Amino acid sequence: MDSEPIILGIESSCDDTSASILKGRKVLSNVISNQEIHSLYGGVVPELASRAHEQNIIPVVDTALSKANIKKNQISAVAYTNGPGLLGSLLVGSSFAKSFSLGLGIPIITVNHMKGHILSHFIDEGNESPSFPFLCLTVSGGHTQIVQVESPTIMNVIGTTLDDAAGEAFDKSAKLLGIAYPGGPLIDKYSKKGNIHAFTFGKPKVKNLDFSFSGLKTSILYKIQNNTQKDPNFIKDNFNDLCASIQYSIVSILIEKIKIAIMQTGINNLAIAGGVSANTYLREELKKLSSNNNNFKLYIPKFEYCTDNAAMIAIAGYFKYLDKDYANLNETPSASLTF
Ligand code: KG4
Ligand code: ZN
Repeated sequence: MDSEPIILGIESSCDDTSASILKGRKVLSNVISNQEIHSLYGGVVPELASRAHEQNIIPVVDTALSKANIKKNQISAVAYTNGPGLLGSLLVGSSFAKSFSLGLGIPIITVNHMKGHILSHFIDEGNESPSFPFLCLTVSGGHTQIVQVESPTIMNVIGTTLDDAAGEAFDKSAKLLGIAYPGGPLIDKYSKKGNIHAFTFGKPKVKNLDFSFSGLKTSILYKIQNNTQKDPNFIKDNFNDLCASIQYSIVSILIEKIKIAIMQTGINNLAIAGGVSANTYLREELKKLSSNNNNFKLYIPKFEYCTDNAAMIAIAGYFKYLDKDYANLNETPSASLTF
């Protein structure tokens, strides 16, 4: 008998509506509907996001089922993101998951979005998954954390941002340069043609393993304002160099803390997760770090599992399913859910 559970994952914490079907740890489908509307506003507009989730959720789940060639009655459990994220957006996914599970008489499983990012490393794509314990640099639009991961369920945040997240630093800097939201991927792209040392910006002085990006943002703003007053074409004429220097500053802040975390914990397994882990320069720098140290093992997720997706929610749900760690229908999502 085939005993691998089939999990439907639902992700709706921010501006992507996603549904995925996993059989065991293998992805049968992972459908993501991006909400283009926010690029007009320079950031995610919560009310528009929840309305778009409402429109997208049923077609996205339908497509995930048909791509996976799975019938509803074959699903073992529904796993959904119950935070952190935008409350209105979370409510769409959670209401859908609850109704779906009620209709089919199957369990629901709640997943912390950040844990989902980390556990995306355990999706079976023939690649090696990190061995425990490992450190995970989880860098997204809303979070920047160093997490010590002991098992699929035991994780401790050992460093976090005191203000903006790394993704926010990318997106807000991009906005100053006139790049549409989300600017992170475009800064990454234009940086390839720029000089990382063309401009220098203020460095944060934060103790322990914590991060800060708000000072950097201010430093970038002043540099741009001062130079644009003298030369209105400053941004246009220095565009690639500005992108490369901003990216260098953000990535350097991340790398510096990761080096300290490795030294302090003595843990040499490092994984990266979250939207910013798609960044080419961050990946290159971490690869350099690992090739200079034979004991150091680096795990980089496939691009499609870096940014928000429901496969990561389904894999986190899979581990909870094995533990029979189900939720009940009274569970409410939380915008500021912690570990
Ligand atoms: O994990 P994610 O998809 O959503 C959140 O949970 O926030 O992360 C989105 C963030 C955005 O800030 C986006 O600009 C950033 O990840 N991002 C990148 C890259 N790809 C996505 N930042 C830098 N370089 C990239 N290649
Ligand atoms: Zn995310």
